[in-house]
Amino acid sequence: MARKRVAILISGRGSNMVALIEAAKDATFPAEIALVVSNEPAAGGLERASASGIATAVVDHRPFGKDRAAFERALQAAIEPHAIDLICLAGFMRLLTPWFIAQWPKRLLNIHPALLPAFKGLDTHARALAAGVKQHGATVHFVVPEMDSGPIIAQETVPVLPNDTEATLAARVLAAEHRIYPLALRLVAEGRVRVADNRCLVDGVLVAPAGSAKPA
Ligand code: GRF
Repeated sequence: MARKRVAILISGRGSNMVALIEAAKDATFPAEIALVVSNEPAAGGLERASASGIATAVVDHRPFGKDRAAFERALQAAIEPHAIDLICLAGFMRLLTPWFIAQWPKRLLNIHPALLPAFKGLDTHARALAAGVKQHGATVHFVVPEMDSGPIIAQETVPVLPNDTEATLAARVLAAEHRIYPLALRLVAEGRVRVADNRCLVDGVLVAPAGSAKPA
């Protein structure tokens, strides 16, 4: 089967992007990273992508002001020439409108640094510490118009340790992110993920929290 062509959307350093690029270097990986787009001209990830020989584009949101629809039309126009099959959001800090999301049904993935549906939104690690949870983690999900709410493809749990700071917890979660994003992309690119009743089935069974598939 032809490898799926993936665009990664970033706003910052791009460590999840790098994890996906590294995974895709394996010839057996079912997807290739064809394009990296940033809305931030200064995003560190752009240089890291170029260094790997990947096409990059910048679609700065600022000239569009509050006109999110116009920004997204420009984003879509930047993506279109690259014959993209799947999009991975990786630290992309713009909320997408239903119009853009509708262009990519079941083809738009996001990674969130918490065990959804807990701690949607920003500052997840500080909020996890403040809540006193003992387990925290990361989630890869399909994007739907409601923020951080789409069907969950993969999750990994990490412990919250007694002396954790926001930084130590973030680092532990980030390592989990770098494991589950390539795993989730692999499953989607291989066509093994189906959505039924807002839940992802992998090979016809429910996805277990650790990102592996267990019979439901
Ligand atoms: C990650 O924690 C991701 O889950 C969140 O933003 C961060 C991006 O980090 N959405 P990086 O740019 O991939 O290093």
